[in-house]
Amino acid sequence: GFSNDGYKLWLQYYSIQAPQEWQVNFLSNYEVIGNSATLSIIKKEIAYASSGMISSHPEIKNSIPSLVIGKAGDLSAKNISNPGINSLASDGFAIFHNLESKQLIVSAKTDIGLLYGTFRLLQHIQTGTSIPKEGIFESPKVQHRVLNHWDNLDRTVERGYAGFSIWNWHRLPRHIDQQYHDYARANASIGINGTVLTNVNANALILTPEYLEKVKALADTFRPYGIKVYLTARFSAPIEIGGLQTADPLNAEVQAWWNQKAEEIYQYIPDFGGFVVKADSEGQPGPHNYKRTQADGANMMARALAPHEGIVMWRAFVYNEHTPDDRHKQAFNEFKPLDGKFLDNVIIQVKNGAIDFQPREPFHPLFGAMPNTPLMMEFQITQEYLGHDTHLAFLAPMFEEVLKDDTYANGKGSEVAKVIDGSLHQYAITAMAGVSNIGTDRNWTGHHFHQANWFAFGRLAWNPYQASQEIAEEWLKLTFSTDATFVKTMTDVMMNSREMVVNYMTPLGLHHIMAASHHYGPGPWVSGGRRADWTATYYHQANEKGIGFNRTYTGSNALSQYASELQNQWGSLATVPEKYLLWFHQVDWIQPLQNGESLWNNLAKQYQKGVEEARANIVTWENMREYVDDKRFNHVLSFLTIQAEEAAWWRDACLLYFGQFSKMPLPAGVESPK
Ligand code: GCU
Repeated sequence: GFSNDGYKLWLQYYSIQAPQEWQVNFLSNYEVIGNSATLSIIKKEIAYASSGMISSHPEIKNSIPSLVIGKAGDLSAKNISNPGINSLASDGFAIFHNLESKQLIVSAKTDIGLLYGTFRLLQHIQTGTSIPKEGIFESPKVQHRVLNHWDNLDRTVERGYAGFSIWNWHRLPRHIDQQYHDYARANASIGINGTVLTNVNANALILTPEYLEKVKALADTFRPYGIKVYLTARFSAPIEIGGLQTADPLNAEVQAWWNQKAEEIYQYIPDFGGFVVKADSEGQPGPHNYKRTQADGANMMARALAPHEGIVMWRAFVYNEHTPDDRHKQAFNEFKPLDGKFLDNVIIQVKNGAIDFQPREPFHPLFGAMPNTPLMMEFQITQEYLGHDTHLAFLAPMFEEVLKDDTYANGKGSEVAKVIDGSLHQYAITAMAGVSNIGTDRNWTGHHFHQANWFAFGRLAWNPYQASQEIAEEWLKLTFSTDATFVKTMTDVMMNSREMVVNYMTPLGLHHIMAASHHYGPGPWVSGGRRADWTATYYHQANEKGIGFNRTYTGSNALSQYASELQNQWGSLATVPEKYLLWFHQVDWIQPLQNGESLWNNLAKQYQKGVEEARANIVTWENMREYVDDKRFNHVLSFLTIQAEEAAWWRDACLLYFGQFSKMPLPAGVESPK
């Protein structure tokens, strides 16, 4: 409709033109067996979907329901057999055709499994994708699929670009806003089952009774949607809110304090998920303050949570300026020696790359290096380094690239995805976290297309092997239109968008050349700050001879943290993929690359290419006007225009700056900076 502001996300349930019989059938003749809070949500959801998708079509009346939704036990009572249900996880689901009764069955072991199955079926109905003959039997491949909100108690959001925090602490616990339900529902619709409410740069106040009461209200709201609540735990909380003199993890009083705190939290929230902890990093307190290890710190909290079945997600993002070594190496050096030293309910949360959510990073060398300690993935959905909310970048291809990278930990075929789903090292706990891009903007995420990144995160956390192209297509159909031209055209735009951002920001393995602190625009000239590792010149190392960070054995040797197969491939100029060239090597400006042209020419042309791609997207989008409502169309158009202008800003800034060193002319076809 005309006034679509995007609030409904991928749950548009827009009217299906000329629906097929099965679409109408399932939405008008269904039975949901049983009663519970979750089953009520399922019933409401189908009724709502039905009123949107087929309201204008006459119902098809049948003597028996065409669609039956029920737990395995309830179905057996009705003599509906359940092939394949036993092998499902507790939150898995089955959607299958019962040939005898000619019914479609959605089944699961739990109500939450049914909720996931229902959402999947509704997505099939909206996109017009019929349920295959053999049915769909799915279990999530990752146990804990969590959003990390970097939300502060004053409602500002660290690296949040879509408004303020949706947690209104002031009104909680008494006012439960409808948006909390809508949030939980959206997450459940893509299989997300946990949310970390607070910023990793934590405020201890969240652990006081005043706030726990509010957290409880949210947890109670989210529970029927299958979503557990987690909190970030500030390491120094025993001092700040506990009145102790120390937070030393080996101190008995400190341990008792955390045990007691966990007891208290579970009185409010019996299914509390656990803690996420950022320690000893960027000024945060941690075990280092007491000369203790990360394992000492994590295990102390793990002991407190274990009796309640809570877990600790302990972050590996540990580095500091007093370690003169390449920042790339610090987390590995800290954690690798601790492999096997963590308690069973600890999982180490590792960012996808070793630096910090760059437009492109090779996978973090810890993946594959800790066979005896569960590791989880931390992706950043919010685009701290990819143009914030205004630059379109579909992140699934970036996530997929890392998940498909081979660690060679157990020889060829040891992809990162196998670390994350636990299959490579038989991890007992598995998890994936996404740093949320959600805020108070009407459309939740600022850019309408960045809803797709939230969606893609959910899909990949459920199944880290899913192809990003498929995710893009599905999201487009659910969110806008199933028109084939529209879907094909915009899938291509989405699939190319992250590479386009790499082209105009950080081509050929460049990284962290964004302006200081806000990280939005270009700033390769930023140097001489408080800390070498917080200045852009540290990362590009440009001089009159060349550019790039030498991480081979003649340089920082961060490369040595990877398997020998990768050391060989990435360590040599002849075999390193060009996308990682300047990540690992310092290369002469005049060095010819694969196409025979100099590094400088290649760099300049990549920047130009990114600009042209951003400009072309405007034209492409203008041709999509007929498929999209005015409001969303114009919003996207204006953001694409900003992006194209700023792509040119990036190109001009970087080429002017680096050109001072290369002193080489721009190759033909590259526009001169104005
Ligand atoms: C980045 C980001 C910080 C954030 C940190 C983290 O460095 O700039 O804002 O706190 O990551 O992940 O802890």
